[in-house]
Amino acid sequence: MALLPFSKRAPFPFYGGKSAVIDEVWQRFGSPAQYIEPFCGSAAILLGAPKPAPLEVINDGSGFIANFWRATKHQPGEVAQWADYPVSHVDLGVRHVWLMEQRESLSDRLQDPNWHGDAQIAGWWLWGQCQWIHSGWCSWTGPKLKQSRKFPFRSGPGMGIHSATPSETYKEVPESVELWTSAGRNAWAALHMLADRLERVRVFHGDWSRCVSNSFDNYSGEDTAVFLDPPYEDHEYLYGNRLPSTAKACNDWCITHANLKIALAGHLGDYTGLDDWEVFEWSRSQHSRMTGTGIEALWFSPACIEAKAKMPNIFDLAE
Ligand SMILES: C[S@@+](CC[C@H](N)C(=O)[O-])C[C@H]1O[C@@H](n2cnc3c(N)ncnc32)[C@H](O)[C@@H]1O
Repeated sequence: MALLPFSKRAPFPFYGGKSAVIDEVWQRFGSPAQYIEPFCGSAAILLGAPKPAPLEVINDGSGFIANFWRATKHQPGEVAQWADYPVSHVDLGVRHVWLMEQRESLSDRLQDPNWHGDAQIAGWWLWGQCQWIHSGWCSWTGPKLKQSRKFPFRSGPGMGIHSATPSETYKEVPESVELWTSAGRNAWAALHMLADRLERVRVFHGDWSRCVSNSFDNYSGEDTAVFLDPPYEDHEYLYGNRLPSTAKACNDWCITHANLKIALAGHLGDYTGLDDWEVFEWSRSQHSRMTGTGIEALWFSPACIEAKAKMPNIFDLAE
């Protein structure tokens, strides 16, 4: 799959990211007046929107993720400078320990919606997220780790900002800023593009239920689109989440809010009580090199726009 430009995607790989289904989702959401992504992770669906909604809210229960988006929005240059460092095995372990020690104070500071985020934590988190293999980098609720012996990603030239393909040039780096690595220069371009995209986006941190509790008073159901991508049943541990009921709570919330445009992600068979919802099946391995653990699906509420049937391709017709 061709990579989207940096203004349309996160500058880091994300386990469980949904960039492969961006078009399917926006085809059914259309142009809502407000868009809410309570489990944003890499915010693939927000960033892939053909046109930003007038009101956009993203949220993540992980303070590291919420802090990354908040700091990128307000201080992209500072975050890029903290991410400006080569791939390094020893530093990866040491920085992981340091980041894990910041959780409590970061959590307190994130409660202030006017706080602009911590650039060092965001930059180091980004730097590590792009070289860590699989899950486990900076778990928000899991136990503090001793120094990890994990090796950095080494089965390709690099991921995210460590990619060997230079990112599109966007903002010239001023003479007063010295960037050492290609990762730093990639981050500089990508984060400035993202800061512009995020200018009006509200970044929340906390349990998903907080950002869907009072959001619908001023909008009709069809004016509101919500993309729900909770940790899948039995996969909560991947995001350091010890509460196993998030997907079930989302399932219940969907049943009572079917008048909104909702897309709910999961594995086929995960949800019940959504009989009149459209179920769109997809497989991760068809769309990317990442392997999946089964057939994934999106449940679309009845308020969504009916998807246009795909035109058959000429090779299918020839068979
Ligand atoms: C499957 S991932 C989302 C991936 C995202 N859609 C993307 O495209 O990158 C689930 C996300 O939910 C977050 N999360 C887990 N439990 C949560 C909760 N109770 N409230 C809010 N966010 C939560 C995790 O930190 C993780 O980023």
